[in-house]
Amino acid sequence: MSENISVQDKVILLTGAFGLIGKTLAKSFIAQGAKVILADANKKLAPQIAAEFKKLKASKQVLVCPTDVTSLSSCNNCITLALKKFKRIDVLINNAAIDAKFDKQANKVTNSTRFENFPLPLLQKSFDVNVKGLVQITQLVIKQMLKQGHGNIINVASTYSLVAPNQSLYDFGESQQQFKPVDYVITKSVIPNLTRYIATFYAKDNIRCNAIAPHGIFNGHDDKFLQNFAQLSPLGRMADRNEFTGPFTFLASDASSYMTGTTLVADGGWTAW
Ligand SMILES: NC(=O)c1ccc[n+]([C@@H]2O[C@H](COP(=O)([O-])OP(=O)(O)OC[C@H]3O[C@@H](n4cnc5c(N)ncnc54)[C@H](O)[C@@H]3O)[C@@H](O)[C@H]2O)c1
Repeated sequence: MSENISVQDKVILLTGAFGLIGKTLAKSFIAQGAKVILADANKKLAPQIAAEFKKLKASKQVLVCPTDVTSLSSCNNCITLALKKFKRIDVLINNAAIDAKFDKQANKVTNSTRFENFPLPLLQKSFDVNVKGLVQITQLVIKQMLKQGHGNIINVASTYSLVAPNQSLYDFGESQQQFKPVDYVITKSVIPNLTRYIATFYAKDNIRCNAIAPHGIFNGHDDKFLQNFAQLSPLGRMADRNEFTGPFTFLASDASSYMTGTTLVADGGWTAW
């Protein structure tokens, strides 16, 4: 293993930090000695998350910051608080997104998720968070990265940035076909090329930008979904949430210093056939 696969002392601003991937990553980064700003729009959850992270030994390395990436003032406020506490932002992870889920808590709305019926206001909503919000917070953080003379941006893509959903994954039998809606695919498709745009734009400024494409994290999905997933996935299973900390740590660390503009695929082989 390379000696520099380390995020020790790095200041990492993580959006969507209260969610499935975000919380797992935050805990791992903190355990590895990083300083983490947990930025998430879910204000209701913020006190609970703050209490949970306060219990950690390294609670001084944590800043919980309710932040809506669609709001300019909210993003500015988060960056101001982050700089006040940690003086710089080494890594920005654009992880916040609206994503229709198929786990046990998911709403089983089928008809409106068919392409021809998909409500355009929902497309707008996803665009506002997944694209415009991502661009907004990245613009603001890049201004700081230019000032400090270095930076590293990681955009969270998806396999659906690279391939279309195989809708048979969402076929639960007995006329219970559901669909991965198009808003997610459109807004995630932007990520790899936007990543290349930012990477090449700022390469000379010592700012790197890469994307990561995870796929299929287990979160209490029911048996039929797991069966469908196993059939379609070369590795034959969903991912454990902890299986992404390695790829994220690699991209956030100096071990990936010669990588920019790329999309690291961590999908159990989903896009390999
Ligand atoms: N879960 C998966 O299987 C999977 C697969 C591929 C890619 N991804 C991507 O990984 C990322 C995280 O996914 P997850 O499964 O942890 O999702 P999640 O829904 O559990 O978490 C997303 C978080 O983003 C926050 N958020 C929503 N809108 C926001 C806004 N306007 N500003 C700030 N925060 C906002 C939510 O409050 C939530 O805490 C997403 O970009 C998703 O597209 C997830």
